[in-house]
Amino acid sequence: MTDSLQTTPTTELLTDDPTWWRQAAVYQIYPRSFADSNGDGIGDLPGITAKVPYLTALGVDAVWLSPFYPSALADGGYDVDDYRDVDPKIGTLAQFDEMITALHGAGIKVIVDLVPNHSSDRHVWFQEALAAPAGSPARARYIFRDGLGEDGELPPSDWTSIFGGPAWTRVADGQWYLHSFASEQPDWDWDNEEVREDFLTTLRFWSDRGVDGFRVDVAHGLAKSLPEVLPSKAELDALPKADGDHPVWDRDEVHEIYATWREVFDSYDPPRTAVAEAWVEPSRRARYASAEGLGQAFNFDLLEADFDATAFHDIITYNLKAADESGSSTTWVFSNHDVVRHPTRYGLPPLAGREIKQGAEWLLAGGDASEVDAERGLRRARAASLFMLGLPGSAYVYQGEELGLPEVGDIPEAQRQDPAFFRNPGVDVGRDGCRVPLPWERTGESFGFGPGPAHLPQPTWFRDFSVEAEEGDPTSTLSLYRAALAARRELQTDETLTWEAVADTGAVAGAEPQVLHFSRPGGWHVVCNFGPTPVAMPTGEVLVASGPLGDAGEGPGSGADAVLPGETAVWLRA
Ligand code: GLC
Repeated sequence: MTDSLQTTPTTELLTDDPTWWRQAAVYQIYPRSFADSNGDGIGDLPGITAKVPYLTALGVDAVWLSPFYPSALADGGYDVDDYRDVDPKIGTLAQFDEMITALHGAGIKVIVDLVPNHSSDRHVWFQEALAAPAGSPARARYIFRDGLGEDGELPPSDWTSIFGGPAWTRVADGQWYLHSFASEQPDWDWDNEEVREDFLTTLRFWSDRGVDGFRVDVAHGLAKSLPEVLPSKAELDALPKADGDHPVWDRDEVHEIYATWREVFDSYDPPRTAVAEAWVEPSRRARYASAEGLGQAFNFDLLEADFDATAFHDIITYNLKAADESGSSTTWVFSNHDVVRHPTRYGLPPLAGREIKQGAEWLLAGGDASEVDAERGLRRARAASLFMLGLPGSAYVYQGEELGLPEVGDIPEAQRQDPAFFRNPGVDVGRDGCRVPLPWERTGESFGFGPGPAHLPQPTWFRDFSVEAEEGDPTSTLSLYRAALAARRELQTDETLTWEAVADTGAVAGAEPQVLHFSRPGGWHVVCNFGPTPVAMPTGEVLVASGPLGDAGEGPGSGADAVLPGETAVWLRA
């Protein structure tokens, strides 16, 4: 690996460029598991503030904070009690202000997570709804229905929640409310004007506090149209999902809501940004990403793909075109707080028919680390990430990914927290394994996460992935991310890419199953060998490499006869 670009990124003043988000490197912080300042085992806002120098050295342009709002943590904070406050376990509004000042002072933008599909059952309006009678205005903010059966003792439909178990829960007077996720997460009724107004107030509240953008949770769920007689689960599942008329998901009129949000975003200078978490057909992403709507949408296609040149080529080509058509830029993601970390996924044998939850089967079978080819998984993850960081568009990096941290597969049942585990026994183990608090040091009760314990158990091998262990090692994953992000900042220009012919075969990349090679303006070349065997490397000055480079001759692997080893990516300057 060359160290020619391993300089510490210069601290810039916060830019007012309204297009800052288009090619930003965004670091996702899961606050409860990032850094704990007070030793209570739960990460907090002062913990984040204390790590601003780390984020600066890493070289990210923005952070996205998963929810930090008051919450009973029925779903890791995605059950929000109060949208305009900070959970006392995590900090205070004053500490939020200190954090944002520190991040902005380091030139880092701040994106917060907004959870508009559902509140928590402790939200004041849900408590009001419970205390109010059926048919009251307080109930109209949520989705209440009478039950079926003689005394309404059966749920209004047999729908199941995303986390398993029934999607309806009965309240004391016999009515039922809808929850697409856990029963502690009642769905809002977005036909309700007060709900709409209240979210506009929330958008202004955080925007006034200096927040630069919003990550919109379950953005495809808000608008619903439930007929008087509800379809069965089987009927619901059989309905088309991409025609804008599904009763629950991805309805066309959800965009009317986002148009009102856009007016709020655009009333700020620079305009506030948003990125939609919308699990919709790729062809339906464009409207979420449009300039009249949220402006950008996550594309999880690489996250769902195997480490495969053809798959990567097709996904990249499709998404760049789609983003261009919508006037947005695309997003790239390999890991987040909902999925098995990618070094682990890539170390598992491929499974036929595997879809969104890669690695879920392995977790369910006990998450035995000995079944993972850890070395290969990390090698591939590093290659994939370096390749991705060279792409046009914004890159999302999930905390710990820059350490090459694997999934913790074997968390004891008694210590699990995720509702997906409790609501779906034997079917889903949940997402705790990617949410284990970060290791900052080799030693200590929680490897430097805080002065006390960690709220999820950290395995002893975490010490080898600690920041302390990796910081001084030029071959570590942390050094790789730092080098790549520093170089990216320097090299990033137009949002364009040109696929290059692959030298050793003369074939156009994409038709060639092992190697992909693209160039960006200014002579920046990105090459990845997805196959297991070495290939000839294009000539050029090596800027960053995801692993050791072979060389048939002398020197650092950049000569005419240099080789690119298997499962390795490299950035070159032509
Ligand atoms: C999103 C979040 C996930 C959460 C769910 C319900 O998918 O990423 O963590 O459980 O929404 O809010």
